[in-house]
Amino acid sequence: MSTPAESQCNPVHVAIIMDGNGRWAKARGLPRNAGHRQGAGNVREIVRASADLGIRYLTLYAFSSENWKRPKEEVDELMKLLARFLKEQAKEIRKQGLRFRTIGDISAMPADVRELLEKTIAESANNNGGTLTLALNYGSRQELLNAVKLYAEDVQAGRARPETLDWQTLSSYLYTADMPDPDLVIRTSGERRVSNFLLLQGAYAEYYFCEKNWPEFGRADLEEALRSYRARERRYGMTGEQLREKDNCQDSLPTS
Ligand code: IPE
Ligand code: IPE
Ligand code: MG
Repeated sequence: MSTPAESQCNPVHVAIIMDGNGRWAKARGLPRNAGHRQGAGNVREIVRASADLGIRYLTLYAFSSENWKRPKEEVDELMKLLARFLKEQAKEIRKQGLRFRTIGDISAMPADVRELLEKTIAESANNNGGTLTLALNYGSRQELLNAVKLYAEDVQAGRARPETLDWQTLSSYLYTADMPDPDLVIRTSGERRVSNFLLLQGAYAEYYFCEKNWPEFGRADLEEALRSYRARERRYGMTGEQLREKDNCQDSLPTS
């Protein structure tokens, strides 16, 4: 029997909205870009901690479809940091046997970044030590529009029939097609919003909001988020009694 404080297993898929780099810098009298540099360093720490904690899927919101609206010099710095991160992380990805992938429209990323992304994705395609996903130029609404366009093309070409469309089929057109839905979505910096991140996939996710800014979010904070997750009961529309009749690990959405 599990105790009420730990009623379920660790999450299979953790997604993080890494927010608060700018405020971290401002609080120290530093330019926003200094916050992004510190934040990029912290990504490495959390990737390692997450692997140590046995999280099989880690998805990090690194750049939203709306972040292009920021000042050009900030966007340029973010792209530079991303390129550096990918070069430095290649060894770590190999060492940990991680599969690297992205969600979002990477065709709009600068050519050098895109090349590095494609190289890292290809090199790690057969790894099975866990999946690290960066959400880049990602927005849920854009993802849905893209999925609907692709689906409409298949209908026009006679490859799909709207009469038989179900969620499983439509979700296979999303960027996350072969990934499980996130079990736990963490947002740092004290903001309590989802900002266009995994809106559909997070339909039954547990949300955890942390007051710390991203550069300060460490291994202990991740462990605290996992503890909070384990103490919750995911019901998927059912009653608590129905679930307790089944088993203690409610990691995934029942299919029927
Ligand atoms: C998150 O930190 C990084 C990105 C969105 C790329 P922010 O840059 O949003 O930091 P705040 O929210 O302004 O403090
Ligand atoms: C969400 O943070 C995007 C990323 C963390 C990459 P934002 O800072 O862009 O979100 P808003 O503008 O506060 O909603
Ligand atoms: Mg922000």
